[in-house]
Formats: sequence, structure tokens, C-alpha cells
Amino acid sequence: MSNRLPVDRIVADDGSEGWKVSPGGLVTALEPVMRSSDGAWVGWAGQPDLELDPFDYDGMRLVPVQLSKRDVEQYYEGFSNDTIWPLYHDVIAPPTYHRVWWDRYVAVNRRFADAVLDIVEADGTVWVQDYQLQLVPQMLREARPDLTIGFFNHIPFPPYGIFAQLPWRKEILEGLLGADVIGFQRQSDASGFARAVRHILGHVTTPTIEVPVADDDAAATGRSKKGRTVRRVLAKAFPISIDAEQYAEMARRPDIQARAKQIRQELGNPTTIMLGVDRLDYTKGIRHRIKAFGELIADGALEVGEVTLVQVASPSRERVETYRQLRDEIELSVGRLNGDHGTMEHAPINYLHHGYPREEMVALYLAADVMLVTALRDGMNLVAKEYVASRNDERGVLVLSEFAGAADELKQALLINPHDIVGLKRAIVHAAGMEPREQQRRMRALRKRVLEHDVARWSSSFLTALAATRHPEQVPAVL
Ligand code: F6P
Repeated sequence: MSNRLPVDRIVADDGSEGWKVSPGGLVTALEPVMRSSDGAWVGWAGQPDLELDPFDYDGMRLVPVQLSKRDVEQYYEGFSNDTIWPLYHDVIAPPTYHRVWWDRYVAVNRRFADAVLDIVEADGTVWVQDYQLQLVPQMLREARPDLTIGFFNHIPFPPYGIFAQLPWRKEILEGLLGADVIGFQRQSDASGFARAVRHILGHVTTPTIEVPVADDDAAATGRSKKGRTVRRVLAKAFPISIDAEQYAEMARRPDIQARAKQIRQELGNPTTIMLGVDRLDYTKGIRHRIKAFGELIADGALEVGEVTLVQVASPSRERVETYRQLRDEIELSVGRLNGDHGTMEHAPINYLHHGYPREEMVALYLAADVMLVTALRDGMNLVAKEYVASRNDERGVLVLSEFAGAADELKQALLINPHDIVGLKRAIVHAAGMEPREQQRRMRALRKRVLEHDVARWSSSFLTALAATRHPEQVPAVL
């Protein structure tokens, strides 16, 4: 279950209706998992007031949950993306606290929980995804103690000092603790969560979280040291990944390789193509990237025509004011840089405010000599992993923010602090001039990591841990 289904309903200009792959890393990661499972995916189809029956799509069973216009405003744009999102991303933008948004968040979480309760079998397993649905685990637990419930948080979990701002912090923690296993991207996220549970709820949190329950509670899993009946909840890092082989395979296709060459030509055959691929979000550090790149052009360290930055910024949450402002700021700085330093033949930045199909993205990855991931805070950042998985040729350089979860695993990237513009500029220059041998050494190690730790491994390690909490006797002792 996730806020969005893997596809969004779209209506074309001629009135014809169809489906489009939903934005974001969650869908990239979970789609292959759900294609190879016989479960159903419960979520919203991306448009308000759509009444849809469950249907099959590309090997998946999809069960739509309806959201009204008001739900979209208050639960999705409001509480999810203007309260929780900025709060969980280091308050890069100030979070807004509105009680009506909270009330709507509770009501919509209840609707999602009910949609699952309608279809889930006895002793079934439910895997709830992401920050939009943090209350669902407890709602399911109360209604159906027989269920095995997992929760995975795709975005960061904030340090206690920041989380403590939330007026509904207790309710959110209790909501999440309805799960048997709560997965996070990084160890630091899991520790932040445990610390919040200790301080706010006073539960024991090591090695597992002990949630006191009534003696006759069917979901009880043990006794605390003091002899109280408890439910044990595992909170742990399970770093998410991609279907790496799928990207490697696409990158081997002659048509995609030909497209990569064509892109290079269309850009005027520069010596170095740099690439940024992001949802247009203030967490992604797009402004910092453009600033560093712009200064290098202005300093003469990079030359227009020799070097080009392609920035794909896919439209996102466009009705939320902070996102509108960000778009204006970025487009202003791109326009300024191109105006100041562009020539008749070349613009320093090729800015594209669109989403693209996966094949086109792989062609872009193959064309890009340097991939710039400069997030100020990011749960994982799967674009970094997609780039690496696509580079069968062991060429290309990944510049990666240490504030993205991927930095814990992709240590052979050029790791940077995006706030340090001098350091970022140095890394960009290093990347642009890196010898093929160093590129190969780094890329080979990065690829090994991503190909071995793919999304199938992620989902099976989470689901094995989940099964072990409720039915340890059925699980081999490998955890
Ligand atoms: O991975 C984070 C995430 O917020 C997902 O939950 C979400 O589906 C995706 O990014 C894209 O965001 P949105 O659904 O708000 O367009």
C-alpha cells in the first residue's frame, strides 16, 4: 500500500484517457517487486474524485482509493507535503502546522486502512509504504491483530530535536508502532526514530522496541524484563535499491546506445556532458548545483561548448507554494546563466521541465560523462543507482551528496557537501577531468555494490525480517 499507485490516470487534450508511470523513487523500486508477487497494490490514482474499480495493469493487481479535491489539498498537498515532508527533510523549508490538515490526514489514513481491510485475507501480510500513511499500521493492528504488518519509510526520519516540533508526534509514533517491522533507509534514520520513541513514549528500544500491550492481546510477542506483556517491534535500516539488471539490460540495447550518441550530437558534441535528474524539489539541491556550475563557467574553469549541463527537472507538487517558488527561482537562475554565458551555438544549461520514459533516461545516463546528485537531504536517491547500473562500460563519474542515503553504500563516488560550494566546484572539475582508469576503478566498485544489492534483495530481506517477527519457526536462521 502506498499513497500513489504505480500509474497515474491521465486525460489527453483530445479527451482520451490513459495511464502514465507515477513520479518518484518509490514506484521505481516497488514496481518490479509487485510484478513478481501475487499481492494487490492499494493506492491513489493521482486525480481527485476518480471512482475506479480494482483492475489489472502490466502484471499487477491495482486497487484504487478515492481522494476528493479537499483530501488532495489537505491530506496530500497539506499535511503530507507541507508538514511532514519539510519536517523530515531537515526543515530546509519551514513546515506548516494546520489542525484541519491533521484531521484530514487521520481521515484519509483511515480510508486507506479500510481499503486494505476489505481485501486482506486472514493472517495476511500488509506492507505500508511511506510518510503519507504513518497511521495505517496502528489502524490495521487494532482492527486485525492476525495481520503481519510492515512499514517502510522512503524518506529520512528526522533527528529527535526536529521531530519534537510536530504537534502530533505522539500519534505518529503510535501509528507507526502498529507495525511489526519499521524499515528505514539509513541507520541514522532508525536511530532517530528509536530515540523519539524513548523520549516521547518512554518505551524500551533496544534491541527491539517493546510496546506494552494487554495480557490477552493476540498480537503480543513476548515479555519485557519487568515481566510485562509486550509486542516487539523491529526498527532497522533496509536501504532500498532498483532492479539493477533491468537498467544494465536496457543500456545494452543498440537502439538505446544509438539514442545516447544522438543526444550527444544534438548537444553539439561537447567534450563533457554533465547531468542532473530530479523531481523539481527543494530537497534536491538543484540551486546549489547550478550555482557551482555557473561559477565554474564564469571563472573560465569550464568552457561553454566544451561542457554542457543537462538538467531534467520533472514537475512535482506544483500546487504547493514552496514548489512554485522553487521553480521560479531555478528558472530565473538558468535563464540568467544562459543569457550571460550562452553563445549562438551553445547554452551552458539545457533545462528540461518534463518527465521522460525509462528508455530515454538510460540513453541520457549513457550520454552523461558526469552525474550530479547534490541533494541537501534525500532518503536514498535512486537516480544515483540508476546511473551506476546503466554504465556497463565502466565509464562516467558520479558526484554524490553525503546527505543522500545512497552515500552510505556508494563510497567510490566523489562525495560532496552541497552547501560547500568551493568543495562542490572542486569535485565537478575533478569529475570533468578524471582519467578513464580512475573512472573505471570507481565505477566497477559502484556497479558491484548496486548489482549485488538490488531491489529484489531489499524486499526479500525486509519480508524475511517481517515474517520472522511473527512466525520465527518458519524462517531459516540467517538474519
Ligand atoms: O519517495 C518519496 C516520494 O514522496 C514517494 O512517496 C512519492 O510517491 C514520490 O516521492 C513522488 O512524490 P509525489 O507522489 O508527491 O508526486
